[in-house]
Amino acid sequence: MTDGVPAGADVAVRDQALRLLEAAAAAGDRSIAPIVQAGHPVLRARAVPFDGQLGAEELAALLALMRRTMHAAPGVGLAAPQIGLPLAVAVLEDPGPGDPEIAMVRERPALPYRVLVNPSYAPAEDDRVSFYEGCLSVVCWQAVVARYRQVHLTGQDGTGAALDEVVTGWPARIVQHETDHLGGTLYLDRAELRSLTTTDDAPPWPAEPRPVTAAHVLGFPLA
Ligand code: NI
Repeated sequence: MTDGVPAGADVAVRDQALRLLEAAAAAGDRSIAPIVQAGHPVLRARAVPFDGQLGAEELAALLALMRRTMHAAPGVGLAAPQIGLPLAVAVLEDPGPGDPEIAMVRERPALPYRVLVNPSYAPAEDDRVSFYEGCLSVVCWQAVVARYRQVHLTGQDGTGAALDEVVTGWPARIVQHETDHLGGTLYLDRAELRSLTTTDDAPPWPAEPRPVTAAHVLGFPLA
């Protein structure tokens, strides 16, 4: 970009974002965006860093659309490529599990709504933890992923303020999952594929806070 005039990929991503917003506006205040599924090339592309391609009001409208779409799914995170837009922004919000034992074992407190712009993460400690997770762009499946328990998150929030913090537990898992989306990585790339199972029926082994039985009967390691 020179002299504040978008060029190349920035023009393309701006036009695409405005088309999404126009379609959403035409469909009403509470409309949501279609979520693209694995196999769509946008999920395998590196997202364009946000660099002012959208004005403040346009970005706020995009984030609101993403948040409504995440709620409707329902999910606990959504990255812009999942609505077909290769822009490095994501929204996160997790009400947490109802079960206090699961919340404790998975270190999964409620995570208030937050926005990540141009995020990146690095492990803050070597420990990894293995749990089932899924993705709104890989419907009907879940698999175990060993993720860093604690990561150092940098980037910006939705207002442009710098992020520089350590995130722990399930919120760290969501940060890693959504940030990975912006680099063209799906959770399946990191998953223990022997753990792969459907979400539509109860699995033929007990659901547990940690997938200990699943690891034993399906034959995959736990971090
Ligand atoms: Ni996902």
